[in-house]
Amino acid sequence: MPPTPPPFPVSRSRRLRRTPVLRQLVRETGVEAADLVAPLFVKEGIDQPVPIGAMPGHSQHPVETLRKEAAELAAAGVRSLLLFGIPVAKDATGTQAWDPDGIVQQALRALAADFGDDMVLVADLCLCEYTDHGHCGALTQDGQVANDATLELYRRTAVAQAQAGATVIAPSGMMDGQVAAIREALDTAGFEQTPILAYAAKFASSLYGPFREAAEGAPRFGDRTGYQMDPANGDEALREAAIDAAEGADLLMVKPALAYLDVLWRIKQDLGLPTAAYHVSGEYAMVKAAAERGWIDGDRVMLEVLTSIKRAGADLIVTYFAKDAARLL
Ligand code: PBG
Ligand code: ZN
Repeated sequence: MPPTPPPFPVSRSRRLRRTPVLRQLVRETGVEAADLVAPLFVKEGIDQPVPIGAMPGHSQHPVETLRKEAAELAAAGVRSLLLFGIPVAKDATGTQAWDPDGIVQQALRALAADFGDDMVLVADLCLCEYTDHGHCGALTQDGQVANDATLELYRRTAVAQAQAGATVIAPSGMMDGQVAAIREALDTAGFEQTPILAYAAKFASSLYGPFREAAEGAPRFGDRTGYQMDPANGDEALREAAIDAAEGADLLMVKPALAYLDVLWRIKQDLGLPTAAYHVSGEYAMVKAAAERGWIDGDRVMLEVLTSIKRAGADLIVTYFAKDAARLL
């Protein structure tokens, strides 16, 4: 039996909205600076930051200014960074991804020395920034991404990143079996305590546009629909996430965020693992662009969006708003 509605005109909802302290008292969801993960781009062969056009406030960094940016984030209360690297030399298999002196490894060593255990260093693990064709793995003769050959390259990269000081490894390439392969490689190399943040439900989204400029990893031919998920599929996202959990993922991520809050909710409810949402470059750019034109209040939209992502079940949020939001929280 549904509960009997209160007799008209009793309104019980507005009583608790009367004052700011009342609203705060009953608020269900809050965003804290410590929930935010700031993505950063480190590029080899530059000595000044290079601003990213479609991501106002963000730049590609050489290691030195990366450290400065990280220090500013830390001062704002952000406790976690997600690192992407852009090498000078790209090749067919992305060898710079696992080179001990590759740009991300250099950055990890510098940041680990600066912050020790006070900063969670998440290393994005993919090859699209490192391959000359821009795909997330090695190719077969006929130009398909070769799943199992790519897993071997992911294993090497995971170990190189852990050795350089990564706290968490985040495979984002969407190869089948990548979590199990990386878990096994990390364990074998003595990194049993290094968690894996799996991009469990990563959709083939049009919202990654600005990122491809930032990371210089756009595919030179074709697209990623052969390995990233169809935006129409929610049940499949759940199956993917369950597989990653079974393979040993410690945290699960949904990406993008706002257009996929239903998926985020289902994954959190069904699997109960710590769950992340990636509020991606295009989502950030849309808010920034509208705010620049005075069409929306950028700060308020930012906080509303982040709150909504938490309400839908995210324990942590990867967002280009990390520094701006942390300063307001
Ligand atoms: C590459 C990768 C992408 C993003 C994170 N890792 C782009 C892509 O898959 O094409 C997108 C992040 C963003 O848009 O902010 N594996
Ligand atoms: Zn990739």
